[in-house]
Amino acid sequence: MKQLNLLLTALFFFLYTASHAQGAAKSVNIDSLIGLMSIEEKAGQMTQIDLGVIAEGGICNLKNPQTLNLDKLKTAIAKYHIGSILNVGCGSGTISLENWHKILATIVAENKKNSRLNIPIIYGIDAIHGANYTMGATLFPQQIGQAATWNPLLVQQLYGITAYETRASGIPWNFSPVLDLGRQPLWSRFFESFGEDVLLAKSMTKSAIRGLEGNTPNSPYAVASCMKHFLGYSMPLSGKDRTPAWISDRELREYFLPTFQMAIQQGAKTVMINSGEINGTPVHANYDILTTLLRNELGFKGVAVTDWEDVYKLVNVHHVAETKKEAVRMAIMAGIDMSMTPNDYEFTELLIQLIKEGAIPMARIDQSVKRILQLKVDMGLFNETRFNKNLYPLFGSTQHASVSYNGAAESLTLLKNKDQILPLNAAKETILVCGPAANSLNLLNGAWTHTWQGIDTRFNTPGKLTIQQAMQFQMAKTNFYYMPGCTTDSVINIEACVEAAKKVSKIIVCLGETPCTELPGNIDDLSLSEPQQQLVKALSALHKPIILVCCFNRPRIIKNIAPLADAILYAYLPGDEGGLAITDALFGKINPSGKLPFTYPANVNAFVHYDHKSSEDLDVDFSNNAYRPQFDFGFGLSYTTFEYQTFTMSTNSLGDKDSVTVSVVVKNTGSREGMEVVQLYYHDLVASITPSVKKLVAFQKIKLATQAIQTVTFTLHKNDFSFINKALKRVTENGEFELLIQNQKQSLYVH
Ligand code: BGC
Repeated sequence: MKQLNLLLTALFFFLYTASHAQGAAKSVNIDSLIGLMSIEEKAGQMTQIDLGVIAEGGICNLKNPQTLNLDKLKTAIAKYHIGSILNVGCGSGTISLENWHKILATIVAENKKNSRLNIPIIYGIDAIHGANYTMGATLFPQQIGQAATWNPLLVQQLYGITAYETRASGIPWNFSPVLDLGRQPLWSRFFESFGEDVLLAKSMTKSAIRGLEGNTPNSPYAVASCMKHFLGYSMPLSGKDRTPAWISDRELREYFLPTFQMAIQQGAKTVMINSGEINGTPVHANYDILTTLLRNELGFKGVAVTDWEDVYKLVNVHHVAETKKEAVRMAIMAGIDMSMTPNDYEFTELLIQLIKEGAIPMARIDQSVKRILQLKVDMGLFNETRFNKNLYPLFGSTQHASVSYNGAAESLTLLKNKDQILPLNAAKETILVCGPAANSLNLLNGAWTHTWQGIDTRFNTPGKLTIQQAMQFQMAKTNFYYMPGCTTDSVINIEACVEAAKKVSKIIVCLGETPCTELPGNIDDLSLSEPQQQLVKALSALHKPIILVCCFNRPRIIKNIAPLADAILYAYLPGDEGGLAITDALFGKINPSGKLPFTYPANVNAFVHYDHKSSEDLDVDFSNNAYRPQFDFGFGLSYTTFEYQTFTMSTNSLGDKDSVTVSVVVKNTGSREGMEVVQLYYHDLVASITPSVKKLVAFQKIKLATQAIQTVTFTLHKNDFSFINKALKRVTENGEFELLIQNQKQSLYVH
């Protein structure tokens, strides 16, 4: 028997290596390959290390530009058989296209030389808003701004370009998109989310996954996406990153699961796990979430990778494992396939020991290795001629930049425009631009821009314009002043700013937040910093029109300064074309059409969402319990006006097999073309789980010429009114519902 096994192994080995040598391994027999692999090779496949481990310099202190150290690389391949590498090296920055090609080609060549089976190594990167770790790549608005466009087709285009430019760098795996619902505005990664609403976020998720994964197998323009961070990461109770979340199973399914379900339906190939804990169990050790829910219930077949060092964190942060070895066992048995270890090989060594001791069954290991190999096959990595740098002539092109501009333009959300003070006439105004975001590309881009935290200015793409630079181009020199006034958190020259403001007709204050994400982005107070508030207050003493432009990671409280402003343009983190787009919006070349994808809180202790419960609306006895945000979810003005006319329904009775067609006539009653997001909400009058006062059920963005009229139609089914009940089942309960469009209401009876 043993001899037969040996013979079979030899045969598989021959067939595999022969086909691979010819570069014809497009149809790899994964099971045969697994049959050939040693325990060490399997454990290696499940290991992902940071570039820092194989580069010149120390971990988090890499030589610049990043250069591979061939001895370290050889160790990673020949001794540890690693399956994956990530990142640009902690503490390091963006890499040139040429250097990426060199690094990746060296990895392929060394792998061929030093590994027995020549199983390709898969490289993964955080291309969060464009290929932000490749010099000169197109940088888009961050996810929160993408959601504010309410334009799924445009968002799909952004992700298509991100995939293209990531692939142009030679990288086939992108740790994006973030599918965590943005319902905790304190959270440092709020800007990485698609906002607070399940339906809008699901729609954006669909666009993101389709854009990244493409629809052609083995396309050189598609990357494997990575849904992150499964599950419940975005709702830490304290608002601080990676701190405990308290989320009931029902709420997990109602709010936090649907985006992941959508991504799986769209074919997302990988998932990254939440570094935090839910209800006392770290997700990396949670079998119920990682296996019962993700695999058995949702049917996810792809690769589950840990987040940064999260296996070790089961010991040294969460304290649910006594030793690292136990942590490895827990994570793998919970359902992890690959560990983003990422700075050493301890995980690999411990995993080998555990397999040898039988503490982790081989069947469990093979399951993970199979998923990893399948990913590599799907991404065409076994085909040695896979990379052709000539396929990407549009990398960093003006065509791609114009899509980024469109994204920024459609995200800009006009929150106030008293007496139609905007748009400004550049030829007739004298303008002072001030504030920390006025002259900073970094504040327009946020974190994940050339470096992790996005604050290093050295890597900014030459030629991209800040707000003040873009404005200057459109103004006569004598009519334009720029003065910072303050940084994001300290005063520079507020008095000089006020002096300069005396000479102008309009003051534009560009408020901002220092780029940050994850733990470095933790805050104790959502208020806008004092110096920025001081700047606005000091300028307001002049009684001249003030326009605020807000470039925030999260909705910083502006309650005290909003009344001092005549106009507020909320810009999110609009990316490299943001300066241009903001300028064009202020001067009227763009008609703003963005709508808030979150409820903008007015007070630091009042984080109530638009789809809150009736009990949160009560204002009867104590007048302190009502929902009174600064700005409502879905809100955004335009330079034109829209009138909602006839609102009709094909039927007011909806059964299991029926559908209802809802129509509304919208007219552009203003004097210029504009885009409007038609938003349909519903209210379930009575339900076994307290119903929301309203919930978004459908939306459509339309463009109307002045005085043009369009009928917008939505078709809804019973399932569109469903929710998760006490038994954790998705149900639609019979009864009366209201459908709401703007100020109009219709009743619908579901049976
Ligand atoms: C973040 C992930 C990211 C990973 C790799 C982690 O710290 O939470 O979102 O993909 O690092 O850079």
